[in-house]
Amino acid sequence: MASFIERMCLHIVLVLSVFLSITQAVDRSNFKTCDQSAFCSRQRAMKPGQSSYRALLETLELSDSHLTLQLQNNNNKVRLLLELYRLQGNMTRVKINELKPVKPRYEVPDVLITDPPTEPMSVVVQDEHGVVLSLGGEDRRLILSAQPFRLDIMEGPQVLLSLNSRGLLAFEQLRIRKDTISHKISSTVGSIWDKIKSVFSSKSQTDTEEAGEKEDTEKHDEEKASEGEEEEVEEEVDQPGMWEETFKSHADTKPNGPSSISLDFSLPGVEHVYGIPEHADSLRLKNTDGGDPYRLYNLDVFQYELFNPMALYGAVPVLLSHNTHRTMGLFWLNAAETWVDISSGQGSGEVLQTDVRWISESGIIDVFIMLGPQPNDVFTQYASLTGTQSFPPLSSLAYHQCRWNYNDQEDVSAVDQGFDEHDIPYDFIWLDIEHTDGKRYFTWDNNKFPQPKDMLQGLLDKRRKMVTIVDPHIKVDSSYKIHTEIRSRGYYIKNEDGGDYEGWCWPGNAGYPDFTNPEMRRWWASMFAYDQYEGSMENLYTWNDMNEPSVFNGPEVTMHKDALHGTWEHRDVHNLYGFYVQMATAEGQIQRSGGLERPFVLTRAFFAGSQRYGAVWTGDNAAEWGHLKMSIPMCLSLGLVGISFCGADVGGFFKTPSAELLVRWYQAGAYQPFFRAHAHLDTPRREPWLFGPDNTDLIREAVRQRYTLLPYWYLQFYHAQRTGQPVMRPLWVEYPEDIATFSIDDEFLIGRDLLVHPVTDEGSSGVTAYLPGNGEVWYDVHTFQRHDGAQNLYIPVTMSSIPVFQRGGSIICRKNRVRRSSSCMENDPYTLYVALDSQGNAEGELYIDDGHTFKHETDKQFIHRHLSFTANSLSSSDLSPDSQFPTASWVEKVIILGVQKPDAVTLTTTDGGESSVEFEFDPDTAVLTLRKPGVNAGVNWTLHLR
Ligand code: NOJ
Repeated sequence: MASFIERMCLHIVLVLSVFLSITQAVDRSNFKTCDQSAFCSRQRAMKPGQSSYRALLETLELSDSHLTLQLQNNNNKVRLLLELYRLQGNMTRVKINELKPVKPRYEVPDVLITDPPTEPMSVVVQDEHGVVLSLGGEDRRLILSAQPFRLDIMEGPQVLLSLNSRGLLAFEQLRIRKDTISHKISSTVGSIWDKIKSVFSSKSQTDTEEAGEKEDTEKHDEEKASEGEEEEVEEEVDQPGMWEETFKSHADTKPNGPSSISLDFSLPGVEHVYGIPEHADSLRLKNTDGGDPYRLYNLDVFQYELFNPMALYGAVPVLLSHNTHRTMGLFWLNAAETWVDISSGQGSGEVLQTDVRWISESGIIDVFIMLGPQPNDVFTQYASLTGTQSFPPLSSLAYHQCRWNYNDQEDVSAVDQGFDEHDIPYDFIWLDIEHTDGKRYFTWDNNKFPQPKDMLQGLLDKRRKMVTIVDPHIKVDSSYKIHTEIRSRGYYIKNEDGGDYEGWCWPGNAGYPDFTNPEMRRWWASMFAYDQYEGSMENLYTWNDMNEPSVFNGPEVTMHKDALHGTWEHRDVHNLYGFYVQMATAEGQIQRSGGLERPFVLTRAFFAGSQRYGAVWTGDNAAEWGHLKMSIPMCLSLGLVGISFCGADVGGFFKTPSAELLVRWYQAGAYQPFFRAHAHLDTPRREPWLFGPDNTDLIREAVRQRYTLLPYWYLQFYHAQRTGQPVMRPLWVEYPEDIATFSIDDEFLIGRDLLVHPVTDEGSSGVTAYLPGNGEVWYDVHTFQRHDGAQNLYIPVTMSSIPVFQRGGSIICRKNRVRRSSSCMENDPYTLYVALDSQGNAEGELYIDDGHTFKHETDKQFIHRHLSFTANSLSSSDLSPDSQFPTASWVEKVIILGVQKPDAVTLTTTDGGESSVEFEFDPDTAVLTLRKPGVNAGVNWTLHLR
């Protein structure tokens, strides 16, 4: 047991090392390469063609819902159980587990929203070489080859995807360590592995006879299956790192020994693959030949580097493939440390193909193959498995002001005041860890924040909100209620010896609640009740940081893999930890309001399904141009795998941005889903008005542009929640046949209708934007200048330029009267921007509800309208006649782009009223402005251009 002084010294050293190394880049030596990870290097050493599995066709069973079949390892005769499911919505699920594991292997719970509904499969042909199954649809078939085992999914004559075609299926069966049991094994009978298995499977039995019988039966089964063939059983040799592994000074005891799994997938005709966030890399994934695979292992990486496959804070094991004909997805449902190798090149018959190989440290193979064929189909398929982006409170789509730290109540009040004085809107101000009493979350520093409710009330009076940080490491302190409760309830993660696992984090010595335990999560949620979280009010929301989890003195700055969550090792659940923290926190916010209010929770760590619980940010970036650029592919990658509510620290967390970089970052951030400025404790203050009046004006303008577009952002999130489509999209999602869009990292779409190409280069005098779509037209949203699609357009820029284009054929609603917060704009009128396509048509939608409750769901309290311009008439009609919501907002202006001058404009309403509408026409830009149609935004109306 370290003395108190020793512990404090370590703490000081750790904290200092965080601050002092602020100017350096990532210390790569803190994080493993594949070579340094025993299971990754073992698996990677296995080369293509070494598949040692064959399918035992005589074990095939086909039920209404699925097919099961045993696979046998040709070397050690260990059998696997393959389960194949045809899922509704054009998906296939492939599960592979050990047939008889010596102990259960972890299967990821809570990520799938339902047990995915199945559809029947039928056998088309079967012989001794394999079986062909019908997957229905457009002549979709699954061919299962027996020796070597391989699966091919075909559509007509075309192979869409193959599993194990390179023979990299590997499954390290659980076993008992040889040296611990060798004395029990007779060297004369059977293979050593038969014996090991039988010893383990009988370990709970005292009756050795029973064990012997079992062994005999198993042996008999296997003999039967191999149909009398004389087969050599290869003895498996222990390799270094199988039973313990040391990284730096950290030992991993690996009581369960080797348990890793791997499988390869081949995608013929595919050159572009995306997804598997989180990495600071290009949107299009790179070949990993000759380098490290992409790593998925939630880690607190200090000062991460750009363009490399190192793991970061979150992991979503979903990869999308795309070519001009088809988009598909692979969802590898495994929460253990995972590495993904990608290799593109010539496949068989000169066809280009991409091979993807997944390697995980433990668990089972459980993979969902989403067959698309369109990008939107893949999003729908994935959403049907893991759910959609939660519909956030409208205000959380507005601007957030954060820094580590706003020091005290006076500071908060001065910053709040500063926004008003400089006429810059904001909705949320954030408090980082220093607001607490000694990093005890759910508390306040009494000296600096003596009256938190007064502070929150002050914000509420201005219709503004606050976020406080609540991290999942809990200070070990017997006078801290949260700690004593967790300890006495036994909710902490445990060491192998049964004691509470402890590690170092911000508060010093800390325990880590076991968020995988549903009881723990319920208790945690209850801590957000107003009477538990003292000083909290309804306008206080939450930020979950350090939930990888970050353990300063742990291996790779995270938890020891042999720590225990009940019976499961941390190894099995690692990538799920942050997911559960955010889940429990969001639940707490919902509960505190009696189930009425929508939560807002920001998380740093995440997994597949995290989209259901709130927003994600890209962690500790730096005030560098490269990091500003990287915010685009990082958020695009997250959107592709369901997590739409993504943002990067505006301004950069580490280091100090130049005024130019800060302005450019505000301009880009204003057009990304989660829009929050944040800065490290050691950086100079950077509230928007501290860089001289010109820069204040530029930042104000960027933030105001965000506020005017909030109705459009809100509509996109409404759609994201209903359909799973990403809010911030790569261009190829909307233009899937246009190869020019496949590798774009510096431009994106918001929904379908806004194209954004932020300026991300220092001293830029122009950008070249790609405007997609043959026959499409695009309008510059600032000048209304019209441009044809399918071209690279050079746009000269000044410091005030934010190149944004509206798609011809769309109608976008804005609120142009910007006030101090989004809530203050609730009843403000709309301006409709009608951008005509080359045929003179346009369409759009308007969605309105109260902006913060679940009443849109529970009581159908919302307005959803269809706006359509065709044959020179613009009309608003109801898309959801059985819903209703009273709105005071009205239509104050309509701006029609790309139209001819009318002689007159009249408005008709459903009550039969008809009135003429004032208008102006600019012949140079072909822009028609209709003033004050004056109709309520929630009713039917038509404007006629005559
Ligand atoms: C790490 C987070 O990434 C950062 O945003 C935060 O300011 C610090 N932790 C302190 O809480």
